[in-house]
Amino acid sequence: MVVVGAQWGAEGKGRVTDLIAGAARATVRYQGGPNTGHTVVTDAGEFRLHLVPAGLLRGREAIIGNGCVLDPVALAHEVQSLEERGIDIGPLVISRDAHVILPHHRLYDRILDERRGADGVGTTRQGIGPAYADKALRLGVRVDDLLKPDLADRVEAAVAPKRELLGSTLDDEAYSIPTVVERYRRAGEQLARHVDDAGPRVRASLNQGLVVFEGAQGTFLDLDHGTYPWVTSSNPYAGGAASGSGAPPVAIAEVWGVMKPYVTRVGGGPFPTELHDRDGALLQERGREWGTTTGRRRRCGWLDLVALRQAVEINGIERLVVNKLDVLSGFENIRTAVAYRARTGQRLARFRYRRDEFAGLECEWEDLPGWDEDIGAARHVDDLPRAARSLITRITEATGVPVAAVGVGPHRDEIVWLEDPEALRARLAL
Ligand code: IMP
Repeated sequence: MVVVGAQWGAEGKGRVTDLIAGAARATVRYQGGPNTGHTVVTDAGEFRLHLVPAGLLRGREAIIGNGCVLDPVALAHEVQSLEERGIDIGPLVISRDAHVILPHHRLYDRILDERRGADGVGTTRQGIGPAYADKALRLGVRVDDLLKPDLADRVEAAVAPKRELLGSTLDDEAYSIPTVVERYRRAGEQLARHVDDAGPRVRASLNQGLVVFEGAQGTFLDLDHGTYPWVTSSNPYAGGAASGSGAPPVAIAEVWGVMKPYVTRVGGGPFPTELHDRDGALLQERGREWGTTTGRRRRCGWLDLVALRQAVEINGIERLVVNKLDVLSGFENIRTAVAYRARTGQRLARFRYRRDEFAGLECEWEDLPGWDEDIGAARHVDDLPRAARSLITRITEATGVPVAAVGVGPHRDEIVWLEDPEALRARLAL
C-alpha cells in the first residue's frame, strides 16, 4: 500500500502511515530526504520525523529505500534522539544505495534558489535538489561509500565541478574535504548496523504481509508530474514507490491519498485556490500551518477539487484520508474549486498544467455551508455535524473515491473511521 500526499505536501501522511503501520510488516520511505517533516503525536508526545519511516514508532521494520537522499550526520542524530526517547531503533534499515547529501549541496541549493529571485522554488535548503542532481550526473556518494577507503575521492569528485560557482565559501572549514570525510565516516559508523541491501528486505516483507510505502511531499511537488519547476527533485507520486524501494510495481496493491479539506503550499509556485484574505489568515492560524522542517508559513487556500481529481487519477488513489477537518469549524461558508478558467476565458474542468498559463488561472467556485461546532471529540460519523458530512460526501462525489477516515485533531486517536475496520482488515488481508 502506498500513502501519498494528494496535494502539495504536508497533509499528515506520517499520521496515516502510523495508523496503518500497527498492522503492517514494514514501512518504507521511497523518496525525498530531510526536506520532509512527518509529525506523529502519541501518548509519549510529539515526534517530528524527517527521514525515519513512521512505522518505527510502532516497532515495525522501517526501511529507508534507495530512492531517498540523506545527511548521515543528521540521520544519526535523529536516530539517537529517538533511542533516547525509548524507541527501539533495531528495526531501522537504511539502503546502502541511498544517496548522501554533502554539506556543499546545502550551500549550492541556497545559492541556486537565491539566484532565481522572486521566482525561486523556495526550497527547504536541505540540499535535496543538488544531491539528486549529482545522483543523475553519476557523481553521487552513496551510503555504501561512507565506510570505503576512497570516500575522500568521491566527495572531491562531487565538489570539483561546483568550485567555480561556489567560490571561496568552499574554503570554509565546514566544507573542507578532510572535515567532511571525518564527520561523515563517523556518522557512517554510527549507522552501520542499520545499513543493508534494502530491496531484498522490501520484497521479502511484501511476501509476508502488508507493506506501507510512505510518500513524502505530495503529488504536485513530483519532479515529473507536479508544477515544474516549483517541485521537489524526486517522485513522491505512487509510481515512485517501486523505483525508490526495489518493490516490483505489480506488488503494490493499494494507494491511499492524504489530504486536508483545504490546500496548503510551502515555497514558491502556482496555487490556483490561494487566499490572500482573512479566510486565508484564519486557515493559517487555526491550522497552525507552519512547515515542520523549515518553520516557514504555509500558504493557504480553499479545497481544489480539480487538482484532487488529478491526484486521484495519476496515483490510482482508492481511498482518501481527510486530515484536519476540525480546522474548518467556524467558517460560515466553505469554498471548493470545481473548475479553472484560463486568461483566455476557456473553462478547464480537468487539471492541465502549463507553466505559462497556470499562474493566471481563476477558479470557478462551489460553496458549501460551514458549521460552528467543535468536532475534536467526534469518533463516529454520527458525531459530525451535517455540514461536515456533506463536505465529505462532496469530496467523494467529485473524485469517485471513498473517504476512509477523517482527522479531527492531531493525536493519533483523534480520528473518525468511515470505512468499517473489519472490511478494511479483510480487504488488506491484515
Ligand atoms: P526541496 O524539496 O527542498 O527541493 O523544495 C522544493 C519544493 O518542495 C519547495 O517548494 C518546498 O517548500 C517543497 N517541499 C519540500 N518538502 C516538502 C514537504 O515535506 N512538505 C511540503 N512542501 C515541501
